[in-house]
Amino acid sequence: MRWQAVFRLSRTRTQKGRMSTPRAKPKYYLTTPLYYTNGLPHIGHTYSTIVADVIRRYKRMRGFDVFMTTGADEHGVNVERSAKKAGKSPQEYSTAIAAQWRQLWDELGIPGDEFIRTTDERHHRTVQWLFKRCRENGFIEKGHYTGQYCVHDNAYVVDAGPGDPCPDCGRPTETVTEENYFFKLSEFQQKLLDFYAANPDFIRPESRRNEVLSFVQGGLRNLSITRTTIRWGIPVPGEAPHVFYVWFDALIGYLSAVGGPEFDERGLWPADLHMVGKEIIRFHAVYWPAFLMAADLPVPKQIWAHGWLLFDSEKMSKSRGNVVRPRPIVSVLGIEPLRYYLLREIVFGQDGSFSYDALVSRYNSDLANGLGNLASRTLTMIDRYFGGEIPKPPGYGALGNEPGSADFASEALTRVTQLYEKFSFSLALEGIWEQVAAIDKYLTVEKPWTLADQPENRERLAKVLYTAAEGLRIVTALAHPVLPQSTEKIWRQLGQTTPLASVQMDQLSWGQLKPGTKIGKLEGIFPRVEKSETIERIESMEQEQSKAAEAAAATPAPTPAAAAPAKIGIEDFAKIEMRVGLVKSAERVAGADKLLQLQVDIGNEVRQIVAGIASAYKPEDLVGRKVVVVVNLQPRKLRGVESNGMIVAASAGPDGSPVLAGFLEDVPVGARLK
Ligand code: MSP
Repeated sequence: MRWQAVFRLSRTRTQKGRMSTPRAKPKYYLTTPLYYTNGLPHIGHTYSTIVADVIRRYKRMRGFDVFMTTGADEHGVNVERSAKKAGKSPQEYSTAIAAQWRQLWDELGIPGDEFIRTTDERHHRTVQWLFKRCRENGFIEKGHYTGQYCVHDNAYVVDAGPGDPCPDCGRPTETVTEENYFFKLSEFQQKLLDFYAANPDFIRPESRRNEVLSFVQGGLRNLSITRTTIRWGIPVPGEAPHVFYVWFDALIGYLSAVGGPEFDERGLWPADLHMVGKEIIRFHAVYWPAFLMAADLPVPKQIWAHGWLLFDSEKMSKSRGNVVRPRPIVSVLGIEPLRYYLLREIVFGQDGSFSYDALVSRYNSDLANGLGNLASRTLTMIDRYFGGEIPKPPGYGALGNEPGSADFASEALTRVTQLYEKFSFSLALEGIWEQVAAIDKYLTVEKPWTLADQPENRERLAKVLYTAAEGLRIVTALAHPVLPQSTEKIWRQLGQTTPLASVQMDQLSWGQLKPGTKIGKLEGIFPRVEKSETIERIESMEQEQSKAAEAAAATPAPTPAAAAPAKIGIEDFAKIEMRVGLVKSAERVAGADKLLQLQVDIGNEVRQIVAGIASAYKPEDLVGRKVVVVVNLQPRKLRGVESNGMIVAASAGPDGSPVLAGFLEDVPVGARLK
């Protein structure tokens, strides 16, 4: 049986089409949103940056000279408030938080080629310059604005009355009256509609395009772009106390990052793609092109809005207390499984629920048992049966035209690149993994380990292992944008010496793997993991780190130059409410070896608390025991079970196992610890 036959079985969704072959190296400038510095990144933000990085890597493999900007959006009331709470100046506070965002992107291997901060001088200059151009062109006027404003989303809420909730986040709006500069957005209604009509791909996906179109068709009001009530913003030159209001500040960062007023020198503007979350599509697809049109500047080519990562069916966000941070996942499983999971599991453009269970299942099924296993079995057999050299199949040379395999290469390449091109990442990966499965099945059917025992089948063995290795080479290249490090490792193990990142997808073809190539040192790529243990490790790390992250957000890490011992004031300690609790009942949490679900009487109520103490305590030994409970923590779910508080324990037992805090004297239930 030939792999061709196997492959045909899985080729139902093939679409015909051509790939374009760029002649020169055109530029491709893409951006992530500029993240607010009033909090630290969670995996929702990480998703945005990962997707941008996948596109960056894909476009490089399609011949583009790619440049990616990310950065920090630092002005506004929220940052000012958070800084005040932390007892810092906004500049000092925001600098520390921006550094943490930047450091995380570096750590995860997804740094921007440029990290723009809206506090950068080059950005101030660009905003002031753009304002001047808009003003000279007659699109700025002064006026009074009274309206409802949501400080959390930094947006006025149209048609809301005093105290009405913000339609986006549900929190009460504030009434604001002040003299502002206005941008004459109303004059751009028709220009924008014409622009959308002439550029049908400007807003993606289609559902967002329709949403924006109907918003603009409904009429546009002029937009307040300065504030006098805020100190923390970019000054409007000669117009103190006006400072620019967030969107006529942050959006311009995309331009400041690539030259600002001198953008022509870098040749990167206009942006080819702004990758954003769906909640900020309007600002990008309506305000931003209007600002640029008003200033006679080129507008971006495309805005792509992705959906939200949901956790417990709600948008993951700090205020809801349902965030998942990337570091624990990355420390336990690595960044690549997270990248793969997010791109494979979530249909790009739609919302998707994040689940640890699905993450680890995908890891085991697609990476460990899928690509990792295929690479390992193919390369191990080449090592064992051909002394570590890619075998020469009979008829090699004519093989480029060999029907089944050449067909494979062109069909799979065309189909997958077309899907990548449309940012249909999930389908692209599905297509690649169909090939992984097809090659795997081919090996299972051909049984090279049996052929190896039959000297008369030596040629057949060479053909089978060559075919598997060449198929592996092609799927490895196709998966590279999503799994850059692990595919590079497989690539090296296949004996390839040019970096995979420099390979052009449209130049990949069957037969390029040279017989006689010495394969590299074999090493496992994705070791299988035990699901429940892995999830527990991630969750307990998550719990520890989210506490640390909250503390860090409230008290930014000192910069090395100004390092001082991390002491807290008594008022910080007073924020933690600890009480004596009495365990009423305890049981194990299904599927979690370390977790116990407890009902704890804390004096005025009985709380359900999930504690990671099952390795050290049996449920029956805990009932009737007095424990110390932190009672004012945000509720969290652990393995789907809500936990309303935390039991205090020292990591002091064997192997750091928990030892519960307690009292020698008898203490009343509910007594507060001070
Ligand atoms: N500062 C503005 C953007 C200005 S762009 C000139 C902002 N910042 S943000 O930090 O609140 O969010 C930035 C982006 O993070 C969102 O647009 C979205 O891309 C991403 N996400 C934040 N939470 C998210 C989820 N729960 N799920 C997916 N992405 C989410 O908005």
